[in-house]
Amino acid sequence: MPLRLVRLDARLHDRNGFTCGEPALDAYLRHQAGQHQRDGIATTHVLIDDSATSRILGYCSLAAAQANIEDLQPTDRKRLPAYPVPAVRIGRLAVAIDGQGNGYGALLLGHAMNCAMQLRTQLGVKLVLVDALNERAARFYRACGFREVAANAMTLYLPLGKG
Ligand SMILES: CC(C)(COP(=O)(O)OP(=O)(O)OC[C@H]1O[C@@H](n2cnc3c(N)ncnc32)[C@H](O)[C@@H]1OP(=O)(O)O)[C@@H](O)C(=O)NCCC(=O)NCCS
Repeated sequence: MPLRLVRLDARLHDRNGFTCGEPALDAYLRHQAGQHQRDGIATTHVLIDDSATSRILGYCSLAAAQANIEDLQPTDRKRLPAYPVPAVRIGRLAVAIDGQGNGYGALLLGHAMNCAMQLRTQLGVKLVLVDALNERAARFYRACGFREVAANAMTLYLPLGKG
């Protein structure tokens, strides 16, 4: 079962067949992801299996963002400038309900980190940010190494290593 992560293509990928258990995340994929991608607001990356390429196993959407230095934990502030820190935001991330618990969420997160690392060969990117939809999602991000932003436990970040 060779898995691949590719950019959402509305002509190839079955957005209506995707259900993750959070209606807002299903609705984003169906109704807004394509438009946002065309307009330069966010890109959406879908996880597919080579043997059934129209079926979306999971997705994440990514956009440019920034964080304030005060939001970061003291050990992560070292050597940072006193103006906003460039970041990539995971706007949404979801795994199809029948595929949850198989490591797909971690795969999507790893992909987001790789995208951020690639981007920073062209422009500055210091960390990846995410707004967790609920406490269950926040637990998932914490389990994957994300740290809480000081003022809001539902916003989490992971610093990129050195480039
Ligand atoms: C949250 C979600 C993305 C996790 O994806 P997943 O494929 O089920 O998770 P994975 O199998 O990749 O799990 C990766 C790790 O996180 C842990 N984990 C997953 N969900 C967790 C949770 N709710 N609480 C604590 N740990 C969790 C797993 O145990 C695993 O840890 P391990 O590697 O030590 O075993 C998925 O369940 C989902 O789409 N849920 C509904 C939509 C949603 O809430 N999305 C988040 C929006 S911000």
